[in-house]
Amino acid sequence: MGITPPILEPENWQSALAAFDWQVEMGVSDWVQDDPVNRYDLPERLERPVVDSPARSKPAPEAAAQVLQVDAVAVAQKAADEAGSLAALREAIAAFDHCDLKKGARSTVFADGNPTARVLILGEAPGREEDQEGLPFVGQAGQLLDRMFDAIGLSRHSADPATALYITNVLPWRPPQSRDPSPEEIAMMRPFVERHIELANPDIIVALGNTPCMALLGEKGILRLRGTWAQALNRPVLPMTHPAYLLRTPAAKREAWADLLSLKARLQAARS
Ligand code: URA
Repeated sequence: MGITPPILEPENWQSALAAFDWQVEMGVSDWVQDDPVNRYDLPERLERPVVDSPARSKPAPEAAAQVLQVDAVAVAQKAADEAGSLAALREAIAAFDHCDLKKGARSTVFADGNPTARVLILGEAPGREEDQEGLPFVGQAGQLLDRMFDAIGLSRHSADPATALYITNVLPWRPPQSRDPSPEEIAMMRPFVERHIELANPDIIVALGNTPCMALLGEKGILRLRGTWAQALNRPVLPMTHPAYLLRTPAAKREAWADLLSLKARLQAARS
């Protein structure tokens, strides 16, 4: 397909790449300009841009030391500790500039559902639809997630904490091409995740996939971990396979159903 691309004024290479990805996802294969260009008219020798030599562009030693001294995890920890409410935490995350994923994302995806819910679902990171809408789990995997939890009487739309869900992700920004988040990105955003859980104060956390298991339990291997109750941040954690995995591997739905029944039983036992 050939269309005239929108005028893009990216601020950095991450947003340029995100804009390019978006066009490819929309099906753009060729760029067409309004006016034809006669390539034979181009000057024979284009002037070479002047590039600073490495020696000239080297930062002063003090400046380089300052750059190295920024400890993004410590900055995240301080910002998270200072957030006294979910609204303040949302603002703190939106203002955090040390994670490069933010530069390529359209939205900072914070959470959805009922913050007073007894069950908090922790996912990995927004995908394309979530980045577009600014809400977690709204794409195909999110629709499956809604159906799965609906089957045991839990919904993000419920006003009753006993039947409600609160949904968030380890990372609030979409990684390029929806790649897996790196250990550095997970470590950097972990203080925000911890604070998010403290402030929402759920009785139970469901960790969907490897990224939340890494963030909460310090290990991955979701096919081994799933279905076995663990403990993190002073509350029970149930690791489950991610709905995106279930869409690709329908045979794994049987085990996911067993995990949902285990969650239902735990909620009922706590109530009686
Ligand atoms: N996958 C996730 O882990 N989170 C989302 O919000 C969407 C897809």
